[in-house]
Amino acid sequence: MANPTLLILAGDGIGPEVMDQVVRIIDWYGDKRDLAFDVEHDLVGGAAYDKHGTPLHDDTMAKALEADAVLLGAVGGPKYDDLDFSVKPERGLLRLRKEMDLFSNLRPAQCFDALADFSSLKKELVAGLDIMIVRELTSGVYFGEPRGIFEEGNERVGINTQRYTESEIDRVARSAFELARRRGNKVCSMEKANVMESGILWREVVQKVHDEDYPDVELSHMYADNGAMQLVRSPKQFDVIVTDNLFGDILSDCAAMLTGSLGMLPSASLGAPNANGHPKAMYEPVHGSAPDIAGQGKANPIACILSFAMALRYSFDQGDEATRLESAIEKVLADGARTADLMGPEGGTPISTTQMGDAILEALDASL
Ligand code: NAD
Ligand code: IPM
Ligand code: MN
Repeated sequence: MANPTLLILAGDGIGPEVMDQVVRIIDWYGDKRDLAFDVEHDLVGGAAYDKHGTPLHDDTMAKALEADAVLLGAVGGPKYDDLDFSVKPERGLLRLRKEMDLFSNLRPAQCFDALADFSSLKKELVAGLDIMIVRELTSGVYFGEPRGIFEEGNERVGINTQRYTESEIDRVARSAFELARRRGNKVCSMEKANVMESGILWREVVQKVHDEDYPDVELSHMYADNGAMQLVRSPKQFDVIVTDNLFGDILSDCAAMLTGSLGMLPSASLGAPNANGHPKAMYEPVHGSAPDIAGQGKANPIACILSFAMALRYSFDQGDEATRLESAIEKVLADGARTADLMGPEGGTPISTTQMGDAILEALDASL
């Protein structure tokens, strides 16, 4: 049987630095677990703009649609801040999400025991934390029309439109309920139905999907502003949170910090299952290109490596191997390996991106 295919789009800033460590892990699985992938590399974001004048070349888009899974590093950076909006690095990422129809973005926030002291919250609030934010990723205010900057009288007006159809809400709600059944069986849906019609529709549709097909799952609704407050007041009350594109973007950065560092959080963006039962999928860390530390070998590669673990689980039916990788990471953290972003109150000497990769590979070897 042919090997599964992976398209790697490392992108900009720390993207290529953290992705280098993922490539070492992929090679390890080929060598030690007889789990080989056919890997192809291509450009996205500023790197693609520099070469092609566009943040995502059509050929790359076509390859992404063909691949069994896409792994993405990060896009963007100050070098590209003044580019025309239509060719900004971030547009490349948004095009991938939209054209691959990756409507369900899973952003887990799990607190590793060894890092419970590093959270900006008290240890007892985050120890054992395991929540999953399901962010709608292909619609809402990120894509709604009309949009643009227009002349209106003697001034300009900037317009974006929050827009959700029933079917868009329905399908992301289903993915959240399905996930909840395999976890703590609880879903909290967040919107602002108190001020937004799209929020009223969101709440209605989520409730209907629940009542018709998932009555066994515990469902609650919360206004997203209260949700943000509850996430920092008492995050362990949540199991699965389902929310729209923009609220999900903000709430997931907030949840990331609960776990100690943005450098720890992976994500999976999934579409509808294809003929072989697997969804179209792209895996990427939640963090960005971190221009402030790019090129210094300081970045934490764990978010990107955990994103590959999610690929093993969701695209390749290798749940046991995903757990092996997650356990290896847990072990190196318990043993005290820390990149600079994980320097807690007790201080210490940070290790480099590559040294973190070394430690995880060693722990993988030890797991055999
Ligand atoms: P960022 O996530 O790049 O950085 C925020 C802070 O977290 C910085 O201080 C950074 O050093 C730190 N950080 C992030 N990842 C880290 C890691 N792996 N290890 C250690 N520290 C880490 O967010 P930003 O500064 O708001 O954005 C920078 C650029 O990245 C922008 O162009 C933005 O659009 C882009 N961005 C891209 C993505 C993506 O590609 N998915 C996501 C978010 C932001
Ligand atoms: C993320 C990022 C992206 C988003 C940007 C870079 C387009 O912040 O993946 O969280 O806003 O979705
Ligand atoms: Mn974001």
